[in-house]
Formats: sequence, structure tokens, C-alpha cells
Amino acid sequence: MDLHITGAEATDAERLAVDRLLGPAVSGWEGGARDMARDGRTAPGGRATSGERDLLLPVFHAVQDSIGWISHGALNYICRRLSVPPAEAWGVVTFYHLLATDPQPSLVAHVCDDIACRLNDVDTRIQESEMRGLFVKRSPCLGQCEYGAATLVTKAGKEPQRFVIKPSVVPHVGALGAARLLKRIGRVDPSSLDDYRKQDGYTALTRALEMGAARVIAEVTAAQLMGRGGAAFPTGRKWEAVAREPNTPHYVVCNADESEPGTFKDRVLMENDPFAIIEAMTICGFATGAARGFIYIRGEYPEAERAIGHAIAQALAAGLLGPNIARSGFAFDLEIRRGGGAYICGEETALFNSIEGKRGEPRAKPPFPAQFGVFGKPTVVNNVETLANVPHIVNEGGAAFAKTGTPGSTGTRLFCLSGHVAKPGLYEIESGRTLREAMELAGGVPRGRSIQAILLGGAAGTFVGPSALDMPLSFEGAREYHATLGSGVIMVFDDTVDLRDTLMRIAKFFKHESCGQCVPCRIGTVRQLELLQAGARPVVDPELSQAMRDASICGLGQTASSAIDSRSPTSRA
Ligand SMILES: Cc1cc2nc3c(=O)[nH]c(=O)nc-3n(C[C@H](O)[C@H](O)[C@H](O)COP(=O)(O)O)c2cc1C
Ligand code: SF4
Ligand code: FES
Repeated sequence: MDLHITGAEATDAERLAVDRLLGPAVSGWEGGARDMARDGRTAPGGRATSGERDLLLPVFHAVQDSIGWISHGALNYICRRLSVPPAEAWGVVTFYHLLATDPQPSLVAHVCDDIACRLNDVDTRIQESEMRGLFVKRSPCLGQCEYGAATLVTKAGKEPQRFVIKPSVVPHVGALGAARLLKRIGRVDPSSLDDYRKQDGYTALTRALEMGAARVIAEVTAAQLMGRGGAAFPTGRKWEAVAREPNTPHYVVCNADESEPGTFKDRVLMENDPFAIIEAMTICGFATGAARGFIYIRGEYPEAERAIGHAIAQALAAGLLGPNIARSGFAFDLEIRRGGGAYICGEETALFNSIEGKRGEPRAKPPFPAQFGVFGKPTVVNNVETLANVPHIVNEGGAAFAKTGTPGSTGTRLFCLSGHVAKPGLYEIESGRTLREAMELAGGVPRGRSIQAILLGGAAGTFVGPSALDMPLSFEGAREYHATLGSGVIMVFDDTVDLRDTLMRIAKFFKHESCGQCVPCRIGTVRQLELLQAGARPVVDPELSQAMRDASICGLGQTASSAIDSRSPTSRA
């Protein structure tokens, strides 16, 4: 017997929103019209309906977009359509902060009050929005940190809208050394496949198809490309492990969840050079024997979702995605999955669970994604920036790529400069150049102020002081300074900032984003915040931090105290 939370029925508008995605209900069992002649004899179920569980999050988004919130009636109808127990669906819908389970106005302003934007008097901006009659929700970082003030507006209705309000629409980009990843940004029309092709686009896929899968992997391995999503795992090894797996099908997942406060690099790439990501995923699919890929884009990135969606359609129409790519016989297709507002879904196994329509809770590892990824199948999961390097590696050759940067950190890295720098923006910097050079590229600290602290690697990263300006921006260089480059955040705080407020916001972020699955993180993030709130000066408990680092299941709990610890008087950086 199934338990229903309530007997509530969906309204016509809610049904319509669901049916637009799933098609009309074909029987009384699914919540459609009852027909005893048919429904008395057969009931759809089993694999056919439970096999659609991965549509749970897309269908929640469909109702949220149309109605503005998800009622118990809508939830019950969705559960009947997808054959999901309501208690489980409730666990999923309440996991995501962009999905509402209480009535709210159709127009919502999600105002970022995270660490970069709160340097610009966020409370006044929120008050102004409220005075204009807007329903305001405070939001963690929206991935627009270079602007220092960002609001995501969602408008539910027949023609739902999602857009970001920010002070400028032109991304500020620059490079130190020869740019690879940013070379087309601002020069290519992101909506035009022709323009992309005129600027080297799809030459790498053509070459990869000629080279064959094994050689593509050999080139990526020779390039010594390390993952740019934070864990710095060798990409070639990951691809090879999946290619070798006899269990099929294989999948490619692009991690575009980018929710680390201070990070916006993947958004700039997706919005301004979307075909490059699609081409790279296609090459990855070819090399690893996958015919299907997912690009999981955080729900706060509507422009990126539109740009990638348009590019997928164009590539399909041109035969560069689909059943017979460039008439080679290789088949590959791509689907966008929109996140629901949960930082933890950037963790690769949480992301798989989210795609599968489950709560975005990390899985215990092993088994690793190369053996047991999305839908329990061998999966390559790579960050957007990691993938963006792939066409360059195929075109230049792995050995030539490996000659750039440093021996331990080949190639270039994207750095997101924000906070107190004169020219906040996205900079591509050859590995090994120094933090000082990065600061100079971004125009230094404005108004003649001095540096109080620099946050490297985001909320899960480390604070360093001005004494670290000669740190080489490479994995090994950062290690020397007991720091991490993480997702490429360089957030600068001048001497006017109340850093206790910043630390408190970081602690609140982790308390809010902990999925609650394991005790050291669930309780530890609460205690960490309480300690900061209690003291007039930032107080950390080394034993608490150690317990979180050692005993948490995933990287969130393991790193939730690192930025805060790095400001403690005993910190070495
Ligand atoms: C809490 C947490 C959040 C993460 N968020 C992201 C993210 O937003 N984007 C990303 O690419 N990797 C993120 N990662 C790292 C992924 O788990 C994974 O290592 C990465 O997607 C692999 O791609 P790469 O090898 O190309 O770096 C996160 C990890 C943790 C523990
Ligand atoms: S460490 Fe935190 S986020 Fe990770 S599984 Fe445990 S509770 Fe969830
Ligand atoms: S967009 Fe506000 S801190 Fe990132």
C-alpha cells in the first residue's frame, strides 16, 4: 500500500504543467480519466513508469515555473504519473531551495547576499527591492560575483521567465600569456554555429574522429590535464578507466553546477562559447564509448542554459550531434538537466543522484563514477573548464599542451577575480604565474587601500595574507603556501572589511548547504557557526575542524572549516 501525504488533488493548471512535459495521463491509475474497461484490467507500473524517475526534477521545475510553487495536490499527481512514493518525492522537492512547497508570489527576487555581494551594502539593495513591492529571498552566491551585486528574478506563469539583474552584461575578461579558453570570448557570436566554425570550431572533433578513440585518450593523458572542478584528478586516467569498462552503456556528464561562492568561470564559458563545451563533450563521448551525455547546469544560470540549449539544437540540426555525427557512424546525444539550487549537487555522486530524481546526497565511494556513475553505469564526469581544454589538446597535441604551464600544472587556469580589485572579471593565467601578477592584471586594490586578506578557492578554500603574493598559481605552488586553488576563486578583501562578517557568512553557507546525511558535517557546521557567533573575535575549535575533516563522507564536510581555520591565529598561510 502506498502512503499519500494528503488526499489533495492537482488543479487543472498544475496538471497541464505536468502533462506538457510527460504527455497526457493515459489511465485512471496515473491520475487521468477512469475507464473501467481499460483500467479494470491493466495498470501501468513496474519498470515502464519507475524508469522515468529521472524526470522528477524536470517535472518539479515545470510546475514551479508555471505555478510558482508545488502544492500537495501537484505533488500527488506527479507521484501517480511517475510511480514515485509521495514521501520520497517530498524528500526530493524539499531538498532544493529554488523549489517552493508553500504558496509564494509569482514574481520572486533572489538577491545574492553572499561574500562578494555583501561588500556592496546588500541590505540596502534588499530594502529597496522590498519597497518596490518585490518578494525577496536572500540567496547564496549566484555566480555573478564579478559584478558585486546580483539578483535572479523568477516569474511564474504561462510564459515563465528567469533572468539575472546585474550592473553590466559585458563580461570582463583578460589573459596573462596566450589565451586558449577565453580566446573566442567576446569575438564569437555564441548563437552562431557558423561563426564558431570560422574560429576553429569543430576542427578538433573532425581530427578526433580521424585519430580514433584510443589516441584521443592518449593525447589527453600526455597533456597531463588535471580536473578544474576542485579535486585535480588526471582527466586522461578518468577517461581511460571508463573506456575500459565492459559494463554498458557509458555516460558523459558535464558538471556545470558551479555553486562554490566566488566562482563564475564556467558560466562565462557556457554563455559566451557554448559550442566549445558541446564539441568537447562529443569528443569525450567518442573517446570513452558513450552515446549519451548530460550537462547539469545550476538553476541560477538561465542565460547559460539558454545558450547551451540553443547550441545543442544547432549542432543537432547540422549533424554534429545525433545518430551519425559528421557521417562517421558515431552517435552521441546531449541533454540539459537544470539544478534546483543545492551546492552539494556539484559533488559528482550527489549530482548523479539528482539526475536520477533522488535527493542530491553524495554516495559513499568506492565504487567510483568510472564503474558506478549515473544510473549505476560507467560515467565520465568533468568540469566545464576541464572539458573546454580538450579541443585545444586534440588540435595542439598532448605533448605540446604539456609544455605550457608548469610540469605539475600544465596549461592555463581560469581565475575569478572579485571583491576589492579595480577590474573584477575572469582571467586566463598560465600556470605558475604569481598571485601578484594576477592582482596586477586585475588593476590592484582600488582607492589606495591595502590588502587585508585574499580568499583562494572559494568558501571551501583558504584565506591568505599579502605575504602570499609571490605564490605561484599552480597546484604545487599553492600547496607550498598551505592553500588551495580550488575552483579558481581569488576574492580580495581590503583593510576596511569586517572579516568576521565574511567568516560568519561562510559558516552559515555550509550549515545551510550540508545535506545532513552524516553527523560530523550536520552537527559540525552548526557548532562552527555557533562558535563564531559567540565570540567577539573569530573562534575556531581545532578538534571540531579535525573531526569534520576526518569523519565527513564528502568534500563539503571535509572542507567546511578550512577557510575559517585559515583565519585563526595559528594558521600558517
Ligand atoms: C561540495 C562539493 C561541491 C562541488 N562542486 C563542484 C562544481 O560545482 N563543479 C565541479 O565541476 N566540480 C565540483 N565538485 C567536484 C566534483 O565532485 C568532481 O570532482 C568534478 O566535477 C570532476 O570534474 P573534473 O575532474 O573535471 O574536475 C564539487 C565537490 C564537492 C565535494
Ligand atoms: S559531509 Fe555533509 S554534505 Fe557531505 S554527505 Fe556528509 S552531511 Fe552531506
Ligand atoms: S554573485 Fe554574489 S557572491 Fe557571487
